[in-house]
Amino acid sequence: MRVLGIETSCDDTGIALYDSEDGLLAHRLFSQTELHLDYGGVVPELASRDHIRKALPLIRRVMQEANTTPEQIHGIAYTSGPGLAGALLVGAALGRSLAYAWNVPAVGVHHMEGHLLSPMLEPDPPAFPFTALLVSGGHTLLADVQALGQYTILGESMDDAVGEAFDKTAKLLGLGYPGGPAIAKAAVSGNPKQFRFPRPMTQRRKTQGEHPGLDFSFSGLKTAVVTAIRNQSLTSQFIANVAASFEEAAVDVLAIKCEWALERTGAKQLVVAGGVSANLKLRARLKQLSEKIRVRVYFPRLEFATDNGAMIAYAGYLRLAKGQHEPLSFGARARWRIEDIDTATA
Ligand code: KG4
Ligand code: ZN
Repeated sequence: MRVLGIETSCDDTGIALYDSEDGLLAHRLFSQTELHLDYGGVVPELASRDHIRKALPLIRRVMQEANTTPEQIHGIAYTSGPGLAGALLVGAALGRSLAYAWNVPAVGVHHMEGHLLSPMLEPDPPAFPFTALLVSGGHTLLADVQALGQYTILGESMDDAVGEAFDKTAKLLGLGYPGGPAIAKAAVSGNPKQFRFPRPMTQRRKTQGEHPGLDFSFSGLKTAVVTAIRNQSLTSQFIANVAASFEEAAVDVLAIKCEWALERTGAKQLVVAGGVSANLKLRARLKQLSEKIRVRVYFPRLEFATDNGAMIAYAGYLRLAKGQHEPLSFGARARWRIEDIDTATA
């Protein structure tokens, strides 16, 4: 089965062709970073309009590269949520229209399910069941994953997502958008021990050794950065030290919670995905942890950690293969919990 994947949930237009026999055939991404740069963040209406401009030419290109004609495509997968409503509707309208024109089924894919399954595009992929850490600009969650669609959230952020904390901290430091890669780059020449930023919700109680659970909170970490930089001159060494200390704190929190989650589930595989999983410090720390507790850890390749069409094509293939597809009407969901994929329709 050959599936065309369309990702337009935020500021990247991602297109890919996945084939159940031959794997990923071709994939292309157009990043809108430059378009939003002057605004310090994504402007939803500009994002939607640019998806309209870029999606079809990218689809043509990917089909050409994969030497694929419309007759060879068996289904279409598009991101139907969560994300920016207008941006999602572009992908949904295009996906449904092509499916109608080519007379093939179309399926709306949950963006975070796409991330969750992205490590399965790699050689030697993880197999269900496993424990997952999903870290992106909008989500930070730990989940017990039993099978496709069988997800139980073990913990999630009560305020900012970890990617959002990277983005906000980068803004405070004048490092621009998107913040994650900018912080990681600045941190390379910084001292991670220069500032002792808080690791919220990670202190075990002294008496029984009980831990405070698997939820996250990142807004306090950002506030600590605000306090640390107040009345300071932002020299490049100072910025590097704050970036490195912030990154260290964020990575510590994620690693501690992963360890506790694995203690709880007893899983022998940890899957880590979403934009922040591109962070090399996080990857190194989780590899260390996995060796210490004898659990295997899986990541997507770096380019598939952040938003892309390949993960949507793949998740869509799995759903289409189960016989799932959408009626002719379609919608998009700006908000959508990953636990609710199989219990409600858009
Ligand atoms: O998954 P993604 O591309 O989009 C969403 O679904 O949100 O994740 C984007 C997030 C942004 O917050 C970005 O700053 C963060 O991932 N990010 C990183 C890195 N690369 C991207 N955070 C830390 N280190 C990175 N190398
Ligand atoms: Zn994403």
